[in-house]
Amino acid sequence: MDDRKTLVAYFSCTNHTQDLAKEIAEAVGGTLFEIKTVHDYPESYAGKIAVGGKEKLTGTRPEILNTVADMDTYDTIMVGFPVWFSTCPMAIVSFLEEYDLTGKTIYPFYTSGGGSGSRAIRDIEKAAPYADVMMCYNASKYGTSALEQWME
Ligand SMILES: Cc1cc2nc3c(=O)[nH]c(=O)nc-3n(C[C@H](O)[C@H](O)[C@H](O)COP(=O)(O)O)c2cc1C
Repeated sequence: MDDRKTLVAYFSCTNHTQDLAKEIAEAVGGTLFEIKTVHDYPESYAGKIAVGGKEKLTGTRPEILNTVADMDTYDTIMVGFPVWFSTCPMAIVSFLEEYDLTGKTIYPFYTSGGGSGSRAIRDIEKAAPYADVMMCYNASKYGTSALEQWME
């Protein structure tokens, strides 16, 4: 019997990633968790570029509001995010650094405005050095259609 548990943790500002995270969680039978930052990002695109860009440039980890109480019970963590500046938002780094993810498998997925988010793998590996990080999945492009190939 397969008793592995999957967490689908995502960060999303304008719901693109959220919508796909919900579909993915349903498709894989995972538990959905929204990564929320203590500070809200500005509504405007320019505002998000300014705040998110500064965090990235300065390596600032925005504080995360909520925690996964039972992280130990998951062995697969799917992490969803919008591509920001060709990588993941710093909120993803904050989130990953909060836990001991030793031995867990991380499946990163992203939405984007058309650009690739595959470079996020480096930042995710740095934030979760003892986890096994898989290839990044372009959820904007594939939706849930290629999940099986990705995760096999
Ligand atoms: C601060 C910021 C930086 C972004 N950087 C990129 C980028 O480098 N490449 C890209 O294709 N899209 C970029 N985008 C577009 C988002 O990745 C895209 O709109 C995403 O689907 C938004 O997801 P969300 O609704 O879950 O927040 C950026 C958006 C913002 C706000």
